[in-house]
Amino acid sequence: MIVSVFDSHTFDRVALDEANKGKHELRFLPTRLSLATADLAKGSAAICCFVNDCLNEAVLTRLKELGVKLVALRSAGFNHVDLTAAKKNGLRVTRVPEYSPYAVAEHAVALLLDFNRKISKAHNRVRDMNFSLDGLVGFDLHGKTVGVVGTGKIGQVFAQIMRGFGCNVLCFDLQPNEQWAKDNKVQYCDLKTLFKSSDIVSLHIPLNEKTKHIISEDALSMMKKSVVLINTGRGGLIDSKALIKSLKQKRIGGACLDVYEEEEGVFFCDLSESGVNDDTLARLLTFPNVSITAHQAFLTHEALKNIAETTLSSITTFEKGASLLPAVTLC
Ligand code: NAI
Repeated sequence: MIVSVFDSHTFDRVALDEANKGKHELRFLPTRLSLATADLAKGSAAICCFVNDCLNEAVLTRLKELGVKLVALRSAGFNHVDLTAAKKNGLRVTRVPEYSPYAVAEHAVALLLDFNRKISKAHNRVRDMNFSLDGLVGFDLHGKTVGVVGTGKIGQVFAQIMRGFGCNVLCFDLQPNEQWAKDNKVQYCDLKTLFKSSDIVSLHIPLNEKTKHIISEDALSMMKKSVVLINTGRGGLIDSKALIKSLKQKRIGGACLDVYEEEEGVFFCDLSESGVNDDTLARLLTFPNVSITAHQAFLTHEALKNIAETTLSSITTFEKGASLLPAVTLC
């Protein structure tokens, strides 16, 4: 089957080629999918997309006209796909529901440790022969209260790692897993209590109409003045303008962000020559107490291998006309 792989990078190509073993014709496209680039899929029965590809009604309608039958997402999250439009156009959509909760949870912890112990700052100083320790004071994680919003696959791993640090863990989820909580000595509570009581708040819920801007001005105002907010979920979970306001007023301790609500067209791109046009992101980058990575929490060898294998298995199953696994099928 001919598959156009949008928004593909060297690491995607290596993992997908390895899993494909020459079975399908993979056409790697560095460009993101949009209405302007959809025609690049001409001649492909399937396309393979990532989180910043645009899969709205207009794009999906065009893909159908071009003869595309399958959209294979290389992601777990699917908030960027208009599933109603996909169904209307008779397109099947698959995703990779689980590839490595460890990759994402461990990145959240890495962001927290780097932020708290000022590792990047210290590294830059030392390389500049500046061995001063002023301004590098962190805090012990041991004994602190960590609020985990969303205790699915990633949230559970994150909570368990934080328990290993000797933290008290408070959790919120629409579907609490009481047995897991008991086994790991963590406690479920309501969202307000979590916001009010936590020294660290980490987001591990999907982005949808209910969760958009769950971190609002109101939510931020409930949190401790020293709170460190971590977001490896989706950018839209945080109202970025409200976050900037809180940071300016020193109402929170800081933020560690792997995702940003307007990351499309910025994250995954080298803008070192051109700079960014997004004033909100530019402002966030000016705060000394904001750490940002460009949506790389998934980026481990193990995760890339699992993503590639699941994606290609779905493509092969679809080509054979066999039933797609319910876990990977969105429509
Ligand atoms: P999951 O489906 O295993 O867990 C999500 C949890 O959120 C579930 O327990 C669900 O009950 C809960 N939930 C849903 N809506 C809620 C609400 N309104 N309030 C409270 N809880 C709610 O998903 P998983 O694998 O743990 O992933 C979580 C999110 O992480 C994904 O949706 C995705 O957006 C993000 N992600 C980010 C990556 C990155 O590279 N930064 C990579 C992979 C996932």
